[in-house]
Amino acid sequence: IRRRQLIELCGKHKVLIVEDCTYSELYYYDNPPPPSMFALSGGEGVLKLGTFSKVIATGLRAGWVQGRKDYIEAMGRVRFDMGTSPILNHMLANFIGSGQLEPHIEKMKQIYGKKIDTLVNSLNENCAPYVKFSKPGGGFFFWFECIGVDSQSLVDAAAEEGLVISTSANYYLDKENSSDKSHVRLAFSNASLDDLNEIGVRLGNAFNKLMA
Ligand SMILES: Cc1ncc(COP(=O)(O)O)c(C=O)c1O
Repeated sequence: IRRRQLIELCGKHKVLIVEDCTYSELYYYDNPPPPSMFALSGGEGVLKLGTFSKVIATGLRAGWVQGRKDYIEAMGRVRFDMGTSPILNHMLANFIGSGQLEPHIEKMKQIYGKKIDTLVNSLNENCAPYVKFSKPGGGFFFWFECIGVDSQSLVDAAAEEGLVISTSANYYLDKENSSDKSHVRLAFSNASLDDLNEIGVRLGNAFNKLMA
C-alpha cells in the first residue's frame, strides 16, 4: 500500500522515482519481495535500477536500468556506456545471452540461504539470551538486537575476539547521537560456513565477558 501511495504522490507532483532494486533478486526460502514500484506503476514515473555486483560478483560495478523508452533514450543521449568498462559489458552480455545468469542466481540463493541458516544456528546455540532477531529473507546483511549490553560495547568486545562488526550507529548521519544503541549488523555473504559457525562462538565469548 505504501508503494502505491508513493507512486500516486510522486505522480501528482511530477517527481520521477528512481527505484534501486539491487537486492530484489536475492531472496531466500521462496520469500519474494513485494512487487516493485516499476511493476505497480506499469513503468510510468519510475526508473528501475539494478546491478550485477551482488548477483555475480561484488566490485563489478556494472548494472542496468529499466524504464520508459523516452527516459532510456534521454539517458543514452548523455552517455551511451555510463562510463563502465566495454570489455566487462561484453562479458556480461555474453553471460546473460547464453542463459547462465538465472541458474547462477538460483544457485547463489541456495548458498546464501544456507549461510543465513548456519549463522542463525550459531547465534542460537551460543548467544541465545543476549540476541534477538528475525531471520532475514534476502539481501546480504543480518541485523540483531543486543539484550543487556549496548551495541558499541559488543562491537569493542567482539574486536578483542577478532571479529569486525558494525553497530547501527554507523548508519546514522550523527553517529554519536544516534538514537539506536542496541543493534548490530553482520555481513554474511562473503563468510564461509566455518566462519559463520565461529561467529556465534566468538560473539558468545564477547557477551559473556561483558556480562561477567
Ligand atoms: C543498495 C545498493 N544500491 C546500489 C549499489 C551499487 O552497486 P554497484 O555500484 O556495485 O553496481 C549497492 C552496492 O553496494 C547497494 O548496496
